[in-house]
Amino acid sequence: MTRTARAYTNIALIKYWGKKNKQLKLPYTNSLSLTLDRFYTDTKATIIDSDKDVVYLNNQLLDDTQNKRILNYLETIRNFYSFTDHFQIDTVNHVPTSAGFASSASGFAALAAAINETKQLDLSRQELSILARNGSGSASRSIYGGFVEWQAGHDNESSFAVPIDETPEIDLALLSVVINKHSKKISSTMGMENSVKSSPFYPNWVTLVSSEIKEIKQAIAQKDLQKIGEISEHNAMSMHALTLSADPSFTYFAPETIRIIQLIQELRRKGLFAYATIDAGPNVKIICTKESLPKVQTYIEQQLSDVTTVVANIG
Ligand code: PMV
Repeated sequence: MTRTARAYTNIALIKYWGKKNKQLKLPYTNSLSLTLDRFYTDTKATIIDSDKDVVYLNNQLLDDTQNKRILNYLETIRNFYSFTDHFQIDTVNHVPTSAGFASSASGFAALAAAINETKQLDLSRQELSILARNGSGSASRSIYGGFVEWQAGHDNESSFAVPIDETPEIDLALLSVVINKHSKKISSTMGMENSVKSSPFYPNWVTLVSSEIKEIKQAIAQKDLQKIGEISEHNAMSMHALTLSADPSFTYFAPETIRIIQLIQELRRKGLFAYATIDAGPNVKIICTKESLPKVQTYIEQQLSDVTTVVANIG
């Protein structure tokens, strides 16, 4: 039996930052994202006559150390649904690192969906979201399109994403600005752990997210673009304040990240619609309107020679 599934990546406007249960990936707070139309993962799962799983990523066989996370995840799924089959997984990422998005959201959502199809588990979308969450927290949101909220919950069954508006008619687009330099990578898991453990502001973050989620949902319902932009940018900056205020302090920002934030402020002073959001890395995603995007793109490319820009729409 072989089945294939596709999932698209998403960008959080209200970030998930901190796990209250590491194993189940239960977050301290809700989060809210926008699924994108361009970057996706295709995953094929085949049941094989073997007592070991085999994983190919972009047509290359991964060895056991490389794919420990995926092997552990497949073991989790077997335990959840009490079966013993092993799989050959063929996964192709259409989320180029050069586009500045992480592939874990689309990757684990596609893998969960492929296993669901191959094993004919008949999972509802809610159950699929739970299953994807067990691979990577942000993957729980990639089960749906458009605006999606991941409800934190308190145990495995109550922590899943729900769609807010799967096909929003709203004039927003995203410009990803990729900084072509490699900085030392701190995984999101490590970053979250350090922030929760040692930032004196972590309790404030939990309070802030609960009010920003309410505000942004209202803004989405009213199609208040400026509000959506303002809240998203403020939320992203607050998340990064948790890294700076951790002990020891750390940051995902590169010098160019700060420069881009300043350019975005300049663009707003010129009257253009542009707001920043940043994940666990140096790249900046600029929330634009369809009208402002080409001007924002030209300006950023003029001011900074060593960056690549990529456009994405709501998907
Ligand atoms: O799902 P993870 O473990 O890759 O964590 C994602 C963390 C952020 O991208 C920074 C925020 C988010 O909500 O996607």
